[in-house]
Order: sequence, then structure tokens, then C-alpha cells
Amino acid sequence: MHILVTAGPTREPIDPVRFLTNRSSGKMGYELAAAFAHAGHTVLLVSGPTALDVPDRVDFLPVETAAEMHAAVANHLERMDIAVFAAAVADYTPSTVAPEKVKKSADTLTLELVKTPDILGSARTPFGFAGTLVGFAAETENLEANAREKLTRKRCDLIVANDVSKPGIGFDSDQNEILLVYPDHSEALPQASKHDLAHQLVQAILELYTAQKK
Ligand code: C5P
Repeated sequence: MHILVTAGPTREPIDPVRFLTNRSSGKMGYELAAAFAHAGHTVLLVSGPTALDVPDRVDFLPVETAAEMHAAVANHLERMDIAVFAAAVADYTPSTVAPEKVKKSADTLTLELVKTPDILGSARTPFGFAGTLVGFAAETENLEANAREKLTRKRCDLIVANDVSKPGIGFDSDQNEILLVYPDHSEALPQASKHDLAHQLVQAILELYTAQKK
């Protein structure tokens, strides 16, 4: 099967030397891409900048900004059977990029930000993706309710939710603890390495795909 995985943070430029980004390490997405490839599938990993090695037997498409990730996904989504959006995409980007390095002068400096395109939210419409669609939700409160709202709004088949306020798991950690939120039920996967969780998740996603095909 053909599987698309987005991973990592995005980098939104302010000027030629500065950017806005977030704490995503990309580990969960890279582990997922590796686990799908290990299971024999053809994987395209669309990733923002990370310090990680590209997993073996995974096709790699590096991007920097949310807009670039949006364009990459738009180009490749149609031929995919499963799409997993694990990237921590910036919600806002500077409205203009200064052509030269911004000089230190006034005591305050205001950055104007504009919304980035919601890539996962575009998958069904306008991209027309009909395959199995999996999103992630990083939350600091009301984990299940917020994830369930995202599931409906972004027309996903599954949301993988994690509580990023818990110490020792999630962002930039090798460990995670996740809640699988399906349209009709939820299932908690207890704390484990991202490597082990990726294998459990791949099983769950492949089962979901098979159930939808019946
Ligand atoms: O709405 P929120 O950003 O919390 O949703 C998270 C999910 O949406 C993740 O799967 C993330 O990869 C995806 N997303 C996206 N494009 C954005 C923002 C989030 O694909 N601009």
C-alpha cells in the first residue's frame, strides 16, 4: 500500500536568519514511517526540519514551511491509501518576510502573523482524499473532548491524541502515551517508547483500513 506520513515541525521565516518554530522532534512520525516500511508498505515521508536520519526504505520529501508542506501533500495525496498527519505544523506565519535581517532599533517590535493552511483539514475537501485519514492532536487539557472535536471537524477516521503537558512524554521525548480516538470509541495505549507505540499504531491503522474496505 501507499502511505503518506507528515512529520516534524515547520519553520516560518521572519527574515533571512530568523524563523518561528516549535518543540516537535519528529520522532513519532519518523518511527511511524519506519514501522510502515518495515511492514512492507511504500512510504512517503514529508517532513519539516529535524535532527533525525531518514528511515531505511522510506521516500523522503523535505520541506520547511507550512505552505511548502501543504503543496507537497496536495501533490501526492491522491495516490495514497493511508495518510497520517503527525507533523506539528505552525498555525500562524509572519505576514511578510523581511528581505534583509531585521535591525535592533525600537524597544518593542510587533510581528504580524497570518493563519497557515490547515493541511489535514484540506485532505477530504479540497484535496478529495478518500483513503484512511489519521490526524494527531497535541493537547494540554480536555484531551479526549478536543481530539473528538478534531476528528469530526477534520473528517478523520482516527485521531491520535497525546497530552503534551505531562512531563517525560510527548514533545522531544523518546516516550509517549497516547489515546486513540475513533468515531465510536476510544482506546488508551499506555506509556511506552515511541518505537513500540509506532508498531502498535501501525497495526491499529492497518486494521482500520481493512475494516473500511469491507
Ligand atoms: O488543529 P490542530 O493543529 O491541533 O490539529 C492537529 C492535526 O492537524 C495534526 O494531525 C497536524 O499534523 C494537522 N495540521 C495540519 N496542518 C495545520 C495544522 C495542523 O495538517 N496547519
